[in-house]
Amino acid sequence: MIDVRYFSGSGHCAHIASVCAKALGTHAQSMKEGARCEETLLFIFPVYGERVPPPAEKFLKNCRAKYAAFIAVYGGMSYGRALWDAQKRFAGTVVGAAYLPAEHSLVNDGFRAPTELLAPLLAKLKAEKFSEVHIPRTRRHPLSFAPALRSRIGVRLVRDERCTKCGGCDAVCPMHAMHKGAADQRCIRCLACIAACRQNALSFRLHPLLARYLAVRRRNETVLFLD
Ligand SMILES: Cc1cc2nc3c(=O)[nH]c(=O)nc-3n(C[C@H](O)[C@H](O)[C@H](O)COP(=O)(O)O)c2cc1C
Repeated sequence: MIDVRYFSGSGHCAHIASVCAKALGTHAQSMKEGARCEETLLFIFPVYGERVPPPAEKFLKNCRAKYAAFIAVYGGMSYGRALWDAQKRFAGTVVGAAYLPAEHSLVNDGFRAPTELLAPLLAKLKAEKFSEVHIPRTRRHPLSFAPALRSRIGVRLVRDERCTKCGGCDAVCPMHAMHKGAADQRCIRCLACIAACRQNALSFRLHPLLARYLAVRRRNETVLFLD
């Protein structure tokens, strides 16, 4: 049985994981749920600042699966070497991987992730072909340092008067950075708090420079690593 897990801030990876799980005849789980996976893992995570988000990195370091395939979902800007980073963090054998474009959660441009292009990767998993893949160490943008700091500068979290300080956002924050609607320095701007707020009291504002950078999608290719 293939264990389909995901990390997802604003829901895109959760959706892609459920599409993949359906094709594999199983169901998808958040990386926080269930028992530790032991055999074969399919892990879907978003690219943040051309990297693996810190909570996903931690999951990979602790994961004891023997084999894994990764899908790094990106928002049409750049993916750096997120898959290479993921392979480095994982102690088992990586048998397949993909960069998949999706909607950018900071722009909501309506781009539909071409999940049908993942068919060869899912077929390899289904067929239990466990040959190791080589993921090249591709270039990162020279300004891709300190991704969490850059996100905090570029994306401002806004809390309005509808906030009842219920603590719902504290519970979903993967970085334990939320305190009744207010974010501390650990926040990586994954936006999980905004999606979870029942009062719709949380939103975000982009710095004008970041908004200008994100205004045009730069790449939409799906890249598969199968052998
Ligand atoms: C903090 C943050 C950083 C991001 N960095 C990148 C990036 O470097 N390159 C890119 O193409 N997309 C980037 N994205 C877009 C996400 O990878 C994309 O929207 C993905 O679908 C989000 O998945 P999720 O909704 O499951 O969190 C970023 C999004 C966020 C919130």
